[in-house]
Amino acid sequence: MSKAVTAALRGTRAQEDYLEQILTLIEDKGYARVVDIARNLGIAQASVTGMIQRMDTDGLVTYEKYRGVILTQAGEDIARAIVRRHESLAEFFALFGLDEKSIYDDIEGIEHHMSQPILATIQALTGELERQPALLERVKKKMAGSG
Ligand code: FE2
Repeated sequence: MSKAVTAALRGTRAQEDYLEQILTLIEDKGYARVVDIARNLGIAQASVTGMIQRMDTDGLVTYEKYRGVILTQAGEDIARAIVRRHESLAEFFALFGLDEKSIYDDIEGIEHHMSQPILATIQALTGELERQPALLERVKKKMAGSG
């Protein structure tokens, strides 16, 4: 991960949510409009426009009124790292039978409080546990209260 990306991952939670949402929208629909960002984040359109303009000034996005929000290369690199972090958490919890949909809000909360060493720890644990189904089963039994 580049220095800029690592630094940005310690950026504000709001900015992370926006970048994550913009990339997800672009990948799902091909474009990210303010109205969709506002709806998905549950934030008023006027506030979204203000934030997008600040992120434009910071070089993370390009905002064109009629084309919507486009990620700059820097913005896209950071957004991809944020999405990867979300996916790493989802993969980790999926090992224990927790499906992403039902723990989505938890992941959204946790992901903002993870530094690179914590993320690396989760990723390493995921890899090891995938190779140890017996251990995983023991943990799941404990979770169910019968271990
Ligand atoms: Fe997320």
